[in-house]
Amino acid sequence: MNSDTRGLDLVPATAADYRELARRRLPRHLFDYMDGAAYDEVTAGENLRGFQRLTLRQRVLRDVSSLKLSTRVLGQELAMPVVLAPIGIAGAFARRAEVQAARAAEAAGIPFCESTVSICSIEEVRAATKAPFWYQLYVMRDRGFARELMQRAQAAACPVLVLTVDLAVMGARYRDIRNGMAGRLGPGGKLRKAWDLLSHPGWLLDVGIHGKPLTFGNLTRAVPDARSLPEFKAWVDSQFDPAVTWKDIAWVRENWPGKVVLKGVLDVEDARQAADVGADGIVISNHGGRQLDGVESAIAALPRIADAVGDRIELLMDGGVRSGLDVVKALALGARACMIGRAWGYAVAARGEAGVAHVLATMRKEMEVALALTGVTDVGALDSNALLG
Ligand SMILES: Cc1cc2nc3c(=O)[nH]c(=O)nc-3n(C[C@H](O)[C@H](O)[C@H](O)COP(=O)(O)O)c2cc1C
Repeated sequence: MNSDTRGLDLVPATAADYRELARRRLPRHLFDYMDGAAYDEVTAGENLRGFQRLTLRQRVLRDVSSLKLSTRVLGQELAMPVVLAPIGIAGAFARRAEVQAARAAEAAGIPFCESTVSICSIEEVRAATKAPFWYQLYVMRDRGFARELMQRAQAAACPVLVLTVDLAVMGARYRDIRNGMAGRLGPGGKLRKAWDLLSHPGWLLDVGIHGKPLTFGNLTRAVPDARSLPEFKAWVDSQFDPAVTWKDIAWVRENWPGKVVLKGVLDVEDARQAADVGADGIVISNHGGRQLDGVESAIAALPRIADAVGDRIELLMDGGVRSGLDVVKALALGARACMIGRAWGYAVAARGEAGVAHVLATMRKEMEVALALTGVTDVGALDSNALLG
C-alpha cells in the first residue's frame, strides 16, 4: 500500500496513510483487532495483492468530459459504487464511530452498513442520519432475538439486510490472542494494557471519555458491557449458530420484507445456491481474511462467480479495496459495487467523520481518473475491456 509516513504530520492522502495514522492513535490491541486477520494473514495479503496484479488498459481520445459514477444497487441509487462494510466494535476506534461513518456515507451519497455488534445502536444511527442505511445480521441460535433485531432494522427503514454467512465458526486471529482480546489477561498483561491506554491520550479522551456509553447498542440485554471482551466472546460462542443451512434463508425471507444479501460467498456453487434460494445479492468476500486463512482473494473469485450467476443476482465484493482504482477493477470483473471495511475503519480511527469523508472523496477522484483513462464514461459500462489480459 502506498503510504509515505514522512508527510503524515501534514496531510494524509491514501487509505494506507490513514492506516498509519490509526496505528499511531489507537492502543495496540485495537489497531491489531482492526488491521489483523486470521492465522498467518495470507488471505488478507492476497486480497491486496489480487488487485495489484490486475492491469488497467489505458485508452485515449474518447471524449471523457462527462463521467457517470452513480449506479443502482439493490434498488437504491448510489452516488458511486461503494458501500461502507459492517465493522464490529467500530465505536471503540473513535467516539460514536458508527454515527460518524454513517454521516460521512450519507454526505457522499452511499450506504453505511451497520454491524450487529456495533457500539451505536440501530436507533442511534437512525436518529443521526436521514439516508437509508443497511443492516448486517448473523443468524443466531436465539431466533426470537434475531427476529427482534430485524424488526428494529425494519423500524429504522433499512432497505437491505446483509446476512453474514461466513462465520459458522470463528477463525482464530492470533494478534487478538497475543493481545489478550480473546481471553482474560494476567496481572502483567493488565498492567501493560493500562499503560498502552494511557500512552494514547487522544484516543482515551475521544473514546474513553466522550465515546460513552461503550455498550453494544444492539445487544444491551445480551452483553451489557462492551469492555468485557470475555463476556462478549461467550455470547458469540453461544449465539453464532454453526447449524445454519440454506433452509434458514427462507426463514430470514419470511421475516424480512426488504432485500436480502448473503455476505461471505466465495464459491461458484454457493453463489448458484444463493440465487436459487432467492437472495437478491451476494457479497463475494472472505471477511477481509479474518476467517479461513488460505482461501483465495475475493477479487480472484469474482470473475468465475460473475460468469456463473452475474445475470441472476447482484454481485458485490469486498476484501482489499483501498482505492477507486480497485473499485474500477472490481466492476470491470463483474461486481455491481464494492464494500470497504478497513479503509473506513482506519479513517474513522484517525480523523473521525472528516477522515471517512476524505477517504470517500479520494476514492471518487481515483475512480474518475481510472474511468477517464480507460476511456469509459459510465461505471455501469465497465467490463473486462477495461483490463489487459
Ligand atoms: C475490525 C473489523 C470488524 C468487522 N466486523 C464485521 C462484522 O461485524 N460483520 C461482518 O459481516 N463483517 C465484519 N467485518 C468484515 C467486513 O465487513 C469486510 O468484509 C472486510 O473488512 C472487507 O475487507 P477490507 O477490510 O480489506 O475492506 C469486519 C472487518 C473488520 C476489519
